[in-house]
Amino acid sequence: MFSERVLSGMRPTGAMHLGHYHGVLKNWVRLQDQYPCLFFVADWHALTTHYDQTQRIGADGWDMVIDWLAAGVDPAKATIFIQSHVLEHAELFLLLGMVTPLGWLERVPTYKDQQQQLSERDLSTYGFLGYPLMQAADILVYRSTLVPVGEDQVPHIEMTREIARRFNHVFGAEPDFEAKARAAVRKLGPQAKRFAELRVRFQQEGDADALREARRILEESTSLPLEDQERLFGYAEGSHRVILPEPAALLTTVSRMPGLDGRRMAKSYGNSISLREEPESVTKKIRTMPTDPARVRRTDPGEPELCPVWPLHLVYSDEATKQWVQTGCRTAGIGCLECKQPVIDAIVRELGPLRERAQKYLDDPTLVRDIVADGCDKARAMAGDTMRDVRAAMGLVGGLPQLVDRRAVPGNG
Ligand code: TRP
Ligand code: SF4
Repeated sequence: MFSERVLSGMRPTGAMHLGHYHGVLKNWVRLQDQYPCLFFVADWHALTTHYDQTQRIGADGWDMVIDWLAAGVDPAKATIFIQSHVLEHAELFLLLGMVTPLGWLERVPTYKDQQQQLSERDLSTYGFLGYPLMQAADILVYRSTLVPVGEDQVPHIEMTREIARRFNHVFGAEPDFEAKARAAVRKLGPQAKRFAELRVRFQQEGDADALREARRILEESTSLPLEDQERLFGYAEGSHRVILPEPAALLTTVSRMPGLDGRRMAKSYGNSISLREEPESVTKKIRTMPTDPARVRRTDPGEPELCPVWPLHLVYSDEATKQWVQTGCRTAGIGCLECKQPVIDAIVRELGPLRERAQKYLDDPTLVRDIVADGCDKARAMAGDTMRDVRAAMGLVGGLPQLVDRRAVPGNG
């Protein structure tokens, strides 16, 4: 049950650009071949900062999904859905809120940072303070084990781990845990002895490999009931059940995509190329890019390190081309338009298949709607499993059967 599961979300920012492609989407496309993956539109997250500009959130989400599909995210491999269509996110968010100390949220670095950065907005809201907890709920509601995020989001994953630990500690405790756990170990059959050894090795020597192997035994034991699996996950490391496993951040070294002006590519800088950009527009944007200001005339030598085109060569060009640029620029052997052409060609070539795929979905939006509806159904089923467990662990179910029993005595109809 706690086998690897990848989850990542993105706020609905509308059409995606090359920065999203190189920074995030290519990574998702790689991951979908390695793990079961869930990718979702974090539309409620957009509300935490932009509660006064909500009209486009829905449309931007759909546009974004079209570009995920265009980039190669494959609905046959990954589950694609929209956060607000799976209400379990909100339920877990609410329940986790009961055991999350305010100080944890106030100490998340992005809290103060973003309040300062977005100082034109009033972010002294409950929703904004709670947004890392909503993210924790997003992750834990699927019992995700791996979360691909950028550097800035690592503290959120760390907090998610703390919340999971606390939840398990508070709600995973059972009066007769030890006895139940020992009974569960016996159900492991031929693996029982090995599991017990590994548990001792972890608890006495802190051997993390032993814990990992113990967990693998549990994952592979298909016959063990779910609650026994949870117990033994907890028994391996301590004295309570693990209802919500702790996720890990999946940091991939992503290439920072340079924009058209030397800064990183961002829509708000107006320096981006969208994934659906027409070849003519790509050509025009690159041809009008600024270059090394020292190259006023064609005969003036330049310096690639001082030119915003050079970082694009680093992304797109092979060694020979890069050598050609360096020499040609410094000796005024090539002109800037000549220098830019290989970059134009590479981007147009790269975007060709993406534009084609996007067109398919733009021509027939029902395809996208069906993919997302299907993804939402799958997500809801997974989240539902977790929530059943969470509610039971918290004591929110039960009690009623006794009432029913009483009414069922003969003579009562
Ligand atoms: N907070 C993330 C961002 O702003 C988006 C996000 C929401 C997310 N929930 C998530 C990312 C869960 C990973 C996992 O970029
Ligand atoms: Fe920039 Fe190329 Fe012109 Fe040199 S030749 S200034 S690297 S565009």
